[in-house]
Amino acid sequence: MRKKTSKTSVEFIRLFVFLLLFSGIAEASEIYDFNPGWKFLQTDQQIAPRQFKEHKNGMAGAKAATADVVWPFTSLKFDDSKYRSVDLPHDWAIEDGFYPEENGGQGFRKRGWGYYRKRFFVPASWKGKCVELQFGGISTNATFWINQSLFHHNFSGYNTITVDISPFLLYGRDNVIAVEVNAAVFEGWWYEGAGIYRDVKLIVSEPVHIVTAGGILVNAEHGDDGWTVNGHVELVNDGDSEVSPSLDIEIIDPDGKMIESRHLSAKLPASRNAQVPYSIRVDSPKTWSPDSPSLYKFKVSLKNDANVLDEKTVNFGFRTFKFDPANGFSLNGKSMKLKGVCNHQDHAGVGTAIPASIEEFRIRKLKEMGANAYRCSHNPPSENILDLCDRYGLLVIDENRAFNAGPDFLNYAREHVRRDRNHPSVIAWNVLNEEPLQGEYRGQAIARKLAQAIKAEDPTRPVLAAMDNGYYSRESARNSLDVVGFNYRYHELDRFHAAYPNIPILLTEGASAFETRGEYVTDRARNISTSFDIDAASWGTTHRKDWEAVVNRSFLAGTFVWTGFDYHGEPTPYINKFPANSSYFGCMDLCGFPKNAFYIRQAQWLDEPVLHAIPHWNHAGKEGQQIEVFCATNTDEVSFVLNGKDLGTYKVDPINMLTQKVAYEPGTLLLIGKKNGQEVVRTKLETTGKPVALRLIPDRTVINADGRDAVPVTVCAVDEAGRIVPDANLPVEFEISGPGRNIGVGNGDPTCILSEKANSRPLFNGFAQIIIQSERNHKGAIELKAKSGNLTSAACTIQTVAADALPVIGGGAK
Ligand code: GAL
Repeated sequence: MRKKTSKTSVEFIRLFVFLLLFSGIAEASEIYDFNPGWKFLQTDQQIAPRQFKEHKNGMAGAKAATADVVWPFTSLKFDDSKYRSVDLPHDWAIEDGFYPEENGGQGFRKRGWGYYRKRFFVPASWKGKCVELQFGGISTNATFWINQSLFHHNFSGYNTITVDISPFLLYGRDNVIAVEVNAAVFEGWWYEGAGIYRDVKLIVSEPVHIVTAGGILVNAEHGDDGWTVNGHVELVNDGDSEVSPSLDIEIIDPDGKMIESRHLSAKLPASRNAQVPYSIRVDSPKTWSPDSPSLYKFKVSLKNDANVLDEKTVNFGFRTFKFDPANGFSLNGKSMKLKGVCNHQDHAGVGTAIPASIEEFRIRKLKEMGANAYRCSHNPPSENILDLCDRYGLLVIDENRAFNAGPDFLNYAREHVRRDRNHPSVIAWNVLNEEPLQGEYRGQAIARKLAQAIKAEDPTRPVLAAMDNGYYSRESARNSLDVVGFNYRYHELDRFHAAYPNIPILLTEGASAFETRGEYVTDRARNISTSFDIDAASWGTTHRKDWEAVVNRSFLAGTFVWTGFDYHGEPTPYINKFPANSSYFGCMDLCGFPKNAFYIRQAQWLDEPVLHAIPHWNHAGKEGQQIEVFCATNTDEVSFVLNGKDLGTYKVDPINMLTQKVAYEPGTLLLIGKKNGQEVVRTKLETTGKPVALRLIPDRTVINADGRDAVPVTVCAVDEAGRIVPDANLPVEFEISGPGRNIGVGNGDPTCILSEKANSRPLFNGFAQIIIQSERNHKGAIELKAKSGNLTSAACTIQTVAADALPVIGGGAK
């Protein structure tokens, strides 16, 4: 009889082949994708720990590797057949429906508790190595066990957790990791997702290696005699004898050319860490800026004789910047305004389990809008967001979550800074957002402790706070900060500047204006807000007034608009009015479809001519009625031509832009934008026919077959002439075949309570979105079809191509 190959031995063979293939670098750290192949159970309440009266049971469960006595799910032997298979990143809150009795700020989603388990095989050859697990983010509190041993607790949904698990492992055998996630607690007042929602990696290193989390510090400084790259490499010796490794450092320019190198040596006693400092002059590097984000690489090879023990590369950039109390912000010696956006991290369809490629899509959209800055409100972002800001050129305010000076939280702050301090995009650390204690001694003291923790890891960047009160109290967080941020409070800007002329200031939150994409009349009863930029929170203002406050004040560094994108939860001004369940603040909706605010910001922020007009021109039955037309434009004047008739040329106000009434007539309203009397841009509003067909517009048509790359596909309806019908609200069904899957749908309607994990989504004011993700290791053509009643269906193809991917450990569903 043929012996059946067990799952474990298949895994072992896979791993062996991998190690063989990569034997040339087998001694450097190996990184595994730990996302696939988890088992998961969601519960409303914590599963109660088992209780025993007998002394012998208490004793049995009180020792290392016996946690299963109290928590059975931590055991390798536990029957998890009631658990379902999931791959990470995973946000269970977005999978489920809406519950009017749940918290509206969190989007009326069920949170509760989640239990995760994953079995994985650890080869015998790993014994003696350092094996670390790295979780990018878990919402919200988590407890971790491995092989029935508790190994960690974590009390924030946003920090990266890196833990050495090598002492707990069973070598040459199967292991099990179990995680209890408590999402019944909130850390925010917005949608936070629930579960292990960021990537998980397993990192295997030699006992002598470069510290995994934040072990390389790269700081490019400009002094009197030019640029120097200073910093250190932190090494670990987890072995039993002293070692004297060498370090080869290379600086590689944006074209891939090595421009500087150093050979250093180190001495590490057994079981000790050491920092190896370096300082390298670099002549005339290209500077990093939002317009020209030149990235350099800093590569470190750690060697023992000729053997490579470890190798790590980090990106960095050359730039100087200054927050000046009198002149605002400057970068590389040039004064500029921060054209910023605040953002939460979720997207339609996927919630907080947002693929890196969807984050890339969003950053691209923000650049298209003209933004040059990004505030990670109100928490540390994924590492990918900062890589993207480095690459695309967005200046970042990197923010902590808890305003807390307790040991766990100070530690989170330190680890956060160590993780993010090499990014040239990051220009400030934010320690608080509208904290009730901001204007009293406790606020001053907590801010001071946080600033001290941050500056110990990075003395090069200012620490700031996003305040909305307590600016003038004698004891205030202000006293502990380098820069003071204003959340709105426009009326205080001048007074504060006069009272504290030596403190630089900026708007850490601006606007908080409401818009529903494609709606032109506010209807409070139906939870709808107009797109005319006239509706804003009482504490905020419109997009136009926000920018007016900035351009009129040379001392103000800039603004961070609340928000770039809509986000789940916090549906202000309809906060407790179910079914409103996602925000109205975004310049773009939850899917990234532009609202009018997007074009207003383009007109304010871009140098090139911008002219965009609202509303649409489908107003059957309103012939002869006056329709208000708004032009988002940075031109001097706009000529209106309706069906060939010249309706006149109107002056544009540089702040308020242009609003003009036009008597409605179906057809074409041509708008011609002029500067100095010359046409520089034109656009038109056209009356379309009825929808006759659907159209699919993939953001990219070739994606990586790595099981991670994902692409948003826009679906819209077109008329006989192929024009997009902007007021189409039709049901749409999707069919997908080939090596891809649907990971979520959306349409930007903040009142929609249909599932975001579905094969259908109605168009909302013309548009909907489906997100398609590749299958791992399946190259081929993904065919997507969209159908709606008797309209002609649409189809599109997305090709998946071979791509490098981290090896997987622990099998999985992908
Ligand atoms: C601010 C707060 C943000 C968001 C915003 C809405 O006060 O910092 O998180 O709630 O208001 O306008």
